[in-house]
Amino acid sequence: MPLSKNQENFHVKPYNETDGKKSQVEAMFDNIAPKYDFLNHLLSLNIDKRWRKKAINLLKPSNPQHILDIATGTGDLAIALEKQLKPRQIIGVDLSEGMISFGRIKIFKLGLRKTITLEKGDSESLRFADATFDAATCAFGVRNFENLHKGLSEIKRVLKPNAKFVILEFSMPTNFIVKNIYLTYFQYILPFLGKLFSRDKSAYSYLPESVKNFPYGENMLKIMTEVGFRNSEFKPLMFGIATIYNGLA
Ligand SMILES: C[S@@+](CC[C@H](N)C(=O)[O-])C[C@H]1O[C@@H](n2cnc3c(N)ncnc32)[C@H](O)[C@@H]1O
Repeated sequence: MPLSKNQENFHVKPYNETDGKKSQVEAMFDNIAPKYDFLNHLLSLNIDKRWRKKAINLLKPSNPQHILDIATGTGDLAIALEKQLKPRQIIGVDLSEGMISFGRIKIFKLGLRKTITLEKGDSESLRFADATFDAATCAFGVRNFENLHKGLSEIKRVLKPNAKFVILEFSMPTNFIVKNIYLTYFQYILPFLGKLFSRDKSAYSYLPESVKNFPYGENMLKIMTEVGFRNSEFKPLMFGIATIYNGLA
């Protein structure tokens, strides 16, 4: 599928312009993995936990038993899925071995190894057969894909017909005042704290830049529809700081 105009201009990369986005994203998350959970909850003031819960609630009616969590990172969404839905199996896939190694420790400590498996993999080339999963989720991951259409198409391929895909992602608030507070926090405070704790200068500057350049709302729905998801809809959270999208395979 050709790249849409929308897609071409959101190739913000973490470190430099020359290397591919995928290898840079993988290296960045390997770098920040030891501090990821701490910083994630600190910088979001724990709001991310509530957002994950809301996203998962959308899956409740279909009672999915085999769930794929894409860009699972340190497994927070996979763990929340287990708590809220009690499915038979959750597979979390992520590019960064560093991130999933911390996730595996959490899953082991929680005694969830029978239900949750984390493995290294690329959303743009999944090892699973067509129509494998009853549902898929992706929290704060799609923005990091090198090729968004390819990543979403692969997720659709491995979902059973009518299975639901739920995305949780940062977006841009539309309200002028909220947008300015958000941008100030995102552009100045967050990179400062990120640098201080993670020692990766670029990672927390990449975050606001990638959010600013990433499609949200109707534009994101358009991409989901281009890829073949049906009945797609979105719900902005906290004035649009983040958005939950969902669609059917
Ligand atoms: C911001 S973290 C989110 C982790 C987790 N979902 C959460 O909610 O905390 C983004 C993750 O996306 C992963 N990622 C980026 N591109 C990916 C791809 N093409 N396939 C799989 N994982 C990817 C990164 O390695 C990183 O762990």
